[in-house]
Amino acid sequence: MLYGTRIRLRGDERNDLPKFVEWLNDPEVRRYLSMSLPISQATEENWYEGMLKRPPEEQPLGIEIKDNESWELIGNCGFFDINWRRRSAGVGLFIGKKSCWNKGYGTEVMRLLLRHGFETLNLNRIFLHVDTDNLGGIRAYEKAGFIHEARLRQADFREGKYCDDLIMSVLRSEWNPDS
Ligand SMILES: CC(C)(COP(=O)(O)OP(=O)(O)OC[C@H]1O[C@@H](n2cnc3c(N)ncnc32)[C@H](O)[C@@H]1OP(=O)(O)O)[C@@H](O)C(=O)NCCC(=O)NCCS
Repeated sequence: MLYGTRIRLRGDERNDLPKFVEWLNDPEVRRYLSMSLPISQATEENWYEGMLKRPPEEQPLGIEIKDNESWELIGNCGFFDINWRRRSAGVGLFIGKKSCWNKGYGTEVMRLLLRHGFETLNLNRIFLHVDTDNLGGIRAYEKAGFIHEARLRQADFREGKYCDDLIMSVLRSEWNPDS
């Protein structure tokens, strides 16, 4: 497990899937995620089986917070598209439990993933895509140390209109472990 100050990240389990289905069918949660169709338990099970076949470094990690003496799942995160020659990887997350938004958890997850990516996986560049309207996400990523890198014009289509996508990234040389 990867431990932060208030959170920990651990491998997803099959019995997490009903929570993911509930959260990912919530229009507010999935608004800025690249999913536009309702998802079923069966779809999510398929996704999970596929994930188990991915390299271990790309397997998704459940986000948990301390709830009295036990841990509570609030979302999911992970690396994707790891390229070992370039030492580059994409990263993504969602917090499904909406009462946990804007409490600094997203920032803490990103900080923990950056530490894991740079200090354990020995990556050099970690990037993400975020919708330009996702102001909370952008702010969380900036706080974790992500730099605005590029704007992909009209790269997405959502709620009847095209929207721009931002690419943000952190390089190992500019990463501040104390940020
Ligand atoms: C995006 C997400 C990961 C952010 O996580 P979080 O725990 O809410 O983020 P944090 O609390 O660490 O940081 C959010 C920051 O944005 C700010 N913020 C929130 N809404 C904002 C808005 N509309 N305008 C400006 N700032 C905003 C918060 O005040 C906070 O900044 P502060 O700490 O300086 O006050 C989370 O909201 C989420 O999972 N949303 C649904 C799925 C999603 O969008 N995933 C990301 C796809 S790229």
